Amino acid sequence: MQNFIFHNPVKIYFGQGQATNITEEARRAGGAILMVYGGGSIKRNGAYNDVMKALQEAGNEVIELAGVTPNPRLDITLQGVKLVKEHDVKLILAVGGGSVIDCAKFIALGAGIGEDEDLWDDYIETGKQAPEDLVPLGVVLTTAATGSEMGDAAVLTHWERKRKLGYTSHPLTPRFSVLDPTYLTTLSREQTIYGFADMFCHTCEQYFSLPSDDNLSDEMAEAIMRHILRSWRACLAQPTDYTARSNAMWDSTLALNRIISRGKDEDWATHGIEHAISAKYDIPHGAGLAVVHPHWMKYVVEASPEATARFARWATNVWGVDATGKSDLVRAKEGIERYSDFLARVGAPRTLEEAGVHPDDAMFDAMADHVGDDARGSYKKIDRAAAREILVDCQT
Ligand code: NZQ
Ligand code: ZN
Repeated sequence: MQNFIFHNPVKIYFGQGQATNITEEARRAGGAILMVYGGGSIKRNGAYNDVMKALQEAGNEVIELAGVTPNPRLDITLQGVKLVKEHDVKLILAVGGGSVIDCAKFIALGAGIGEDEDLWDDYIETGKQAPEDLVPLGVVLTTAATGSEMGDAAVLTHWERKRKLGYTSHPLTPRFSVLDPTYLTTLSREQTIYGFADMFCHTCEQYFSLPSDDNLSDEMAEAIMRHILRSWRACLAQPTDYTARSNAMWDSTLALNRIISRGKDEDWATHGIEHAISAKYDIPHGAGLAVVHPHWMKYVVEASPEATARFARWATNVWGVDATGKSDLVRAKEGIERYSDFLARVGAPRTLEEAGVHPDDAMFDAMADHVGDDARGSYKKIDRAAAREILVDCQT
């Protein structure tokens, strides 16, 4: 295993009715609260009422910032920064999915940097680490997907420049997150699928990476992947089932709270390619991943005997492919095939066209440029040329 530091201080309030704990958190914050949310789904799934009730009990001033879109953008983030400064906000409360949470993280960052610094150019583009003393962040989660509720990462889009970038820094980590699975029951079938595609891919991004030697992280990742598949089927079969939604919520949090990447390289090439697509076409993140991920697998499976062996292990331990009398490569390819078939069966898009994306040559170049030569990848580095090849392959 590689050396690592593990420090994840997020307090999780898990289960039905847990939003009542916000009262105590608001009292602890002791001042104005900026409540950030999206296009209104929280008014239909009960989260808005629960949060408002808890905040009224605490008595803090509450400022609302609504309208955060999926693939959140810089402009609304800067509106939030202004509000934090104007109202001397003491707690930012994100109520929604990954987009709302990430926007709130960047609001905290934007409000904490120097007056002469630029959020996008000086931090997001460069990865410069955040100051330690940001306004604290609380989360009320309404999707099972990104893991942002228990992590230090966030993703933002600069739409005018057609750039979508991830940013990671410990001070962005939420102070607490409320995970009430009842809020998930209003998710559409599509959003449910996109969330599962995302959490499954997160697990793979960590699992398909060096070193391949024995470690607990990989065994945990396999268990999480098997469990995600079980929850995925259960949520589609019974969208209002509490057990199914509870499992989905915790699966997604565990898939990206960094516990399963300890001791490993991590890969994230599929995410780099997906961000290039949604930077240009504004498609849901999970839809882009469902298209790219199996194509990335086909590109990487024969990169080295070690890579093939890892895919073979995954095929057997996650997809139940019988190992008897089969070479690693045969087994590995059977696993990828089962994954593709599964995605098709649940109704996830599998080609760019099915995701509503029709690039011409210039657009393939632009997406490959977005991935750049700052190659991600572990078993195989994915540079600009490799990303272009994978994207072109995503047409079929
Ligand atoms: O805007 P509202 O009305 O709230 O509707 C949202 C939105 O339209 C809706 N929704 C959310 N909860 C709902 C609901 N509809 C019904 N019932 C509910 N309970 O769902 C739509 C999508 O919401 P969004 O927040 O965009 O989804 P998700 O949680 O999948 O977040 C995706 C964003 O997170 C980024 C993605 O790139 C994308 O921008 N990611 C963040 C990561 C991180 N911070 O670590 C890692 C991921 O890899 C990912 O890149
Ligand atoms: Zn993701």
